[in-house]
Amino acid sequence: MHTHKINIAVDGFSSCGKSTIAKGLAKKLGYTYIDSGAMYRAVALYALRNGWITDTGMDEEQLRQHVSGIRISFRTNAQGEQETYLNDENVEKEIRTLEAANGASRVSTLGFVRKELVRQQQEMGKKKGVVMDGRDIGTVVFPDAELKLFITAAPEVRAQRRFDEMTTRGENPSFDDVLANVKERDLRDTSREESPLRKADDALELNNSSIGIEEQLQWALEMFHKITVKK
Ligand code: DC
Repeated sequence: MHTHKINIAVDGFSSCGKSTIAKGLAKKLGYTYIDSGAMYRAVALYALRNGWITDTGMDEEQLRQHVSGIRISFRTNAQGEQETYLNDENVEKEIRTLEAANGASRVSTLGFVRKELVRQQQEMGKKKGVVMDGRDIGTVVFPDAELKLFITAAPEVRAQRRFDEMTTRGENPSFDDVLANVKERDLRDTSREESPLRKADDALELNNSSIGIEEQLQWALEMFHKITVKK
């Protein structure tokens, strides 16, 4: 019988449904879910508010000087959902905008930002029992994670999911813009020098372009049981 907790890494491209799988797994297993992308988004929001990210570039020096003063934490709200806090302010809504997403994609290319956030993420995983989703969880944050999942889906499928989410929120995006943004972020995530998105050698890959949430969760649970039974 498996009693000790493990860490689970869920990586993949943006809008792949990583968080749905990661949250579902955490709930089923009684583990803590951690959204590492939210941390990059919170840093981006901080930089945006201070005018350090503009249309033409980033004030890296300012960000470098202030990065250690940016505290990011997660708290559970009354509905049992996790919300992101930036220096004790609830920024959950603000970090979900396209502007924050684009900013996150940019600040996440900076080595000193990654170093600080990876340090905080490893601290959160010390006691195990964590399901963390992101881009470098299986490769950099938890290279020893016992279970690593790598989720993929076609860009058009991911753009449609993002488009639907935005429409539900009352926004009025153009599908072509959303698709272009998905592709642009893919390119930036995979081609950056610092910890680019890639599948860890020992990660299990799932393309979820045409499978539903229940099926994916079942697959992930199967993988979990397979791995933990071996121990
Ligand atoms: O998963 P997301 O869309 O919330 O991520 C926002 C951005 O942060 C995305 O462009 C990639 C980056 N990111 C990263 O570089 N490393 C992570 N572990 C998580 C996110």
